[in-house]
Amino acid sequence: MVLSLRILIVLLLLPLLSLATQQWTDGACGNCICSRKRGNYEMEYVVNCTGKDIKSLPDNLPRNIHRLDLSFNSLGSSSLKNLELYGNDLMSLSLASNNVTIINTDILSSLRHLEELDLTGNVLDYIDDRLFFALNLRKLSGISAKMFHRSAFWKLVSLEDLSVIFEQKMIDENIFKNLQVFHLDVTFRYAKEIPISLFHFGTNTLTRLTIDGPLLSSLPNGIFDGLTVLKTLTIRGGNIRWLSNSLFYRPSATSMPLHLNKISIIGVKSIPRDLFKGQLSLKFTTLKNIEDIPPLDLPVQLDNLDMSGSNVFRVSPDVFMKLTNLRELNLSNSSLTSLESESFIGLSSLSDLDLSRNKIVTLPEKIFEACRYTLDF
Ligand SMILES: *[C@@H]1O[C@H](CO)[C@@H](O)[C@H](O)[C@H]1NC(C)=O
Ligand SMILES: *[C@@H]1O[C@H](CO)[C@@H](O)[C@H](O)[C@H]1NC(C)=O
Ligand SMILES: *[C@@H]1O[C@H](CO)[C@@H](O)[C@H](O)[C@H]1NC(C)=O
Ligand SMILES: *[C@@H]1O[C@H](CO)[C@@H](O)[C@H](O)[C@H]1NC(C)=O
Repeated sequence: MVLSLRILIVLLLLPLLSLATQQWTDGACGNCICSRKRGNYEMEYVVNCTGKDIKSLPDNLPRNIHRLDLSFNSLGSSSLKNLELYGNDLMSLSLASNNVTIINTDILSSLRHLEELDLTGNVLDYIDDRLFFALNLRKLSGISAKMFHRSAFWKLVSLEDLSVIFEQKMIDENIFKNLQVFHLDVTFRYAKEIPISLFHFGTNTLTRLTIDGPLLSSLPNGIFDGLTVLKTLTIRGGNIRWLSNSLFYRPSATSMPLHLNKISIIGVKSIPRDLFKGQLSLKFTTLKNIEDIPPLDLPVQLDNLDMSGSNVFRVSPDVFMKLTNLRELNLSNSSLTSLESESFIGLSSLSDLDLSRNKIVTLPEKIFEACRYTLDF
């Protein structure tokens, strides 16, 4: 009797228990996959609906989701209504590769704990400061719009990481005002020029900056002024004819980005010989697909140099002579036709060298003399 009473109590409690955990079961849930992972502070409840051909957001998922991945579906603007159902706990939401053009402000505002939002692969129509006013996002990825109002990001004061794609031609100089981000990746799909003060917001914060601008015709001299904590910089610009030699260094300017660790310049037509003058910590340099590359003045502490795809043509002995710390050198596809016996003199730490895709017929006899102990054959 006592036993069956106990069973009865347990049986009565079971539905209550499962209500309390909101029927979380690992494995298939609806069309999606539910799982739990130990997060930084607590157990994270993850629902993964990636690539399920979903056209509207289901209403039958568990309510206590922390991370919801809706990437690679066919969700349109009107199919996000049900997001409100999951607003209590949602910290991370991916809508990457869907067909969202408008996001309803009320729906987004109901996601009070949202920290990460991935919108890569959707092009919104218009964004201004109303869209994010109720959110404390830390990471906003792949946001793209036909038109960003200058206030679009002004409310995002907690943001640490932003990647943004501008479809508009004119970029307002104050669009990043107030941002405190550490990482900024920005694509200017149609802009031909950008304002000189665009990145000056990042004086004490910005450590990584990527500029991707297929139609940019130049970078204003002074655009990196003040970015003293910048560590990683990437510039991709197939239409930029040349970069100023005082982009990173000017004798008269006190706060310049002189502690860069990694610089990548891709597709720019030509760069000046002393672009890297004054760099105190530069270790990694990529200079890809540069049409006109002079014999460069490179900093001695350099560890890794990739000039693949650039027209190097010849390597005179003084180019690499100082680079006694260089470990990797990539000269693949760099229009080399011959090398001199002293081309690599000084490279006493070199362990990786790529000379593939060139038209070098013979190598001089003593060319690897300096690095004969370090080179991995
Ligand atoms: C969802 O699954 C895909 C692959 O199946 C994976 O790449 C993605 O990271 C997962 N999303 C989350 C939030 O774990
Ligand atoms: C995306 O949405 C627009 C209208 O919102 C619609 O015309 C178009 O067909 C949709 N594209 C896809 C691939 O679903
Ligand atoms: C070689 O470099 C050129 C640019 O100079 C690039 O267009 C081409 O794709 C590269 N070829 C290979 C095989 O990487
Ligand atoms: C050198 O660069 C080429 C083209 O970017 C790349 O395919 C190759 O893997 C690189 N070599 C090494 C050793 O990393």
